Amino acid sequence: MCAKPIKKEPKQVETTGHNWDGIEELNNPMPRWWVWTFYATIVWGIGYSVAYPAWPLITGATPGLIGSSTRADVAAEIARVDAGNAEIKAKLVAADLNGIGADPDLAAYAERAGAAVFRTNCSTCHGSGAAGFEGKGYPNLLDDDWLWGGTMEDIHLTITHGIRNTTDPDARYSEMPKFGVDELLEEAQIGQVTEYVLAMSGQDHDAALAAEGAVVFVDNCSGCHMEDGAGDPTQGARR
Ligand code: HEC
Ligand code: HEC
Repeated sequence: MCAKPIKKEPKQVETTGHNWDGIEELNNPMPRWWVWTFYATIVWGIGYSVAYPAWPLITGATPGLIGSSTRADVAAEIARVDAGNAEIKAKLVAADLNGIGADPDLAAYAERAGAAVFRTNCSTCHGSGAAGFEGKGYPNLLDDDWLWGGTMEDIHLTITHGIRNTTDPDARYSEMPKFGVDELLEEAQIGQVTEYVLAMSGQDHDAALAAEGAVVFVDNCSGCHMEDGAGDPTQGARR
């Protein structure tokens, strides 16, 4: 493009007085548009500071003249959503537990709201997918195997009152006797019945010991775990 090099008389423009090996630094003024834009940003900045919350103070910030507050905006937005949900929420509270599924709107709301409640309150222990954890004692909530019952009412009661806490008299509670510590069974019998439990649950076991264990089981355990070891789901006696 520049076939001809632009020649500028160095003296036409003021210099800054800096000179490096004969190369002088010119002191050209800023372009007009740049200067005006710069002034415009200053005007804008002052206007903004006056109108909106801007300058940090010790306990807050200058509030601004037009009363804008993002915090209030969020509160208003939450109130708007709450108001929008108030009707269906009241319906949910009033609904019969087993009737929720019959109303598609109610069921959809309950499932979505419930998912949020679960993520906030339950997933720490039950896992975000509700499959429990490798660590023992945190049950999988996805299968059909319930310690405390899997009907709507059972699960509602479990969640309302909790399990094995001492602060709520309605909490789920169950206890298995300490057969060894309390000397209800001899060491040998415990070994036998352990083999029997392994046998029942289809694991490797000693057949001779298990046969003796079967007797121990019927005498001592079947009252709670049932003869076939299937447990009593309403009492928390496990399979
Ligand atoms: C601090 C850990 C923890 C939190 C939080 C927690 N759970 Fe549990 N949950 C457990 C444990 C442990 C058990 C097994 C208790 C037992 O049987 O002794 C259990 C059992 C249950 C059961 C019974 C399972 C069955 O097989 O009968 C249900 C249902 C359940 N939880 C639902 C929930 C829901 C819903 C929430 C959230 C609102 C929740 N849990 C929050 C630890 C927790
Ligand atoms: C009074 C009722 C009762 C009797 C009798 C009883 N159990 Fe239990 N057993 C329970 C309860 C309740 C649980 C669940 C305990 C818990 O989760 O806190 C349990 C849990 C167990 C477990 C753990 C199951 C699991 O899923 O981890 C085994 C194994 C077991 N019992 C074996 C026996 C054997 C063997 C006997 C007889 C020697 C016996 N129980 C007698 C009530 C009983």
